[in-house]
Amino acid sequence: MRLIIVSNRLPVVLTVGERGMEIREAVGGLATAVKSFIKATENGKALGFSEVVWAGWSGIKAEQESEDLKSRLREMGLLPVSLTAEEVNFFYEGFCNSTLWPLFHGFTVYTVFESKYWEAYVKVNQKYAETVASVANTGDFVWIHDYHLMLMPAMLREMSPDVSIGFFLHIPFPPAEMYQLMPPPWRTALLDGVLASDLVGFHIHEYVNNFVRAVSKFLGYRTEAGVIYAGRRKVHVGAFPIGIDFDFFYNSSLDPEVAGQIEELRQKLRGLKIIFSIDRLDYTKGVINRVHAWERFLKEHPQWRGKASFILIVVPSRIGVPQYDAMKREIEREVGRINGELGDVNWTPIVYISRFIPTPTLLALYNIADVALITPLRDGMNLVSKEYVATKRDCKGVLILSETAGASHELLEALIVNPNDESGVVEAIAKALTMEPEEQCRRIKAMQEKLRQQNVVKWAVDFLHSLMLAYRENTESFTT
Ligand code: F6P
Repeated sequence: MRLIIVSNRLPVVLTVGERGMEIREAVGGLATAVKSFIKATENGKALGFSEVVWAGWSGIKAEQESEDLKSRLREMGLLPVSLTAEEVNFFYEGFCNSTLWPLFHGFTVYTVFESKYWEAYVKVNQKYAETVASVANTGDFVWIHDYHLMLMPAMLREMSPDVSIGFFLHIPFPPAEMYQLMPPPWRTALLDGVLASDLVGFHIHEYVNNFVRAVSKFLGYRTEAGVIYAGRRKVHVGAFPIGIDFDFFYNSSLDPEVAGQIEELRQKLRGLKIIFSIDRLDYTKGVINRVHAWERFLKEHPQWRGKASFILIVVPSRIGVPQYDAMKREIEREVGRINGELGDVNWTPIVYISRFIPTPTLLALYNIADVALITPLRDGMNLVSKEYVATKRDCKGVLILSETAGASHELLEALIVNPNDESGVVEAIAKALTMEPEEQCRRIKAMQEKLRQQNVVKWAVDFLHSLMLAYRENTESFTT
């Protein structure tokens, strides 16, 4: 019995740079979480799987992929799916990131409905299904991840009827009225595609409810407590809040490399308070709102000028999708303006870093940051908020978190804000910077307790266990 993970991207990103082909770890919640789970379960062995295979795209265009590269990936247990330049353009940048991503996050004005994008989406989902069907055996578990592959469960079910199929959505599922903006043939095909799974999972109950409502509104299927009756199949749906590898973050300051970087940073910062955030470059993350809230804070609380800096890390992503390029320019312009207006020779209001950050450096930054300002406009879960809290072994630090991030449903002891309420965010920053150590510790401890329990292994085990039960129920109902 093997576990086959399928996601748009493999957990590595290949880039063709000046020094030839470079391989680095993929960023983003999905890759981080699934990698931690695979590592923690010794390649799935602890859960009874003989091995874990991961199918996905390498991040470069098929035209640049060599046979040698593909066999190197296969040796790493990865099953590459090649995407041509046109598929990257119409499928990945098109239907995935210009249709589904903005619509599901409520950015309707950015949403583009183009037939050529839809056609590419159908074709590429078919390609993923064929790749997996070519290696899947009876009894294997196939766990399909995210919005890129919503048609794939139905396609795979046709090709390999004897595998169990689970689908997990890492982003929000929107309210039915927003989903209704999608052309009818596409919106029903996407729902039917997902419903060929035995189990469908979301981060929080709100997304489960939205999905169930869309299914009854647009497909008319009967639904009842966690089950959708899709023809002869019983599809289970549920909330499985994704977690983190808690111990890894909690013990990070014990690692000599991280400890060295913490020490170095502390010496350089000499008592300066640090507000911190890190995101993938994305308009859903609310970076500009955050930058403006920080500017307003410094203007309304001038006593903090020279005493606190905001370290803003934005990791480039989806370069090529127009809104992402425009957003990068806007951040650069605004950070430059604010630093120019408020900064001086000894103090930079916003330390802006726009590149990939190695893990030990990120861990050191989590450790030293006095406040994490995590204010996405809409976020399926948001793992950065969880990682920050888990890292606080010394029980010092304050998390400011958007109510529009899935994580706010668990991290109730954070200072919860609405990212569009600038004065509310300013107030929260002021409160965070002056919070008594006892209160910081009480809040951190309560959140750590939840994160320790609801960790990434529990997330995956809960999902796979429920999948096993759902699959068994469906196979039994076919044989009786
Ligand atoms: O979590 C949402 C998600 O789209 C993942 O599927 C993906 O791995 C991550 O964000 C990063 O996005 P991309 O693969 O488009 O760079």
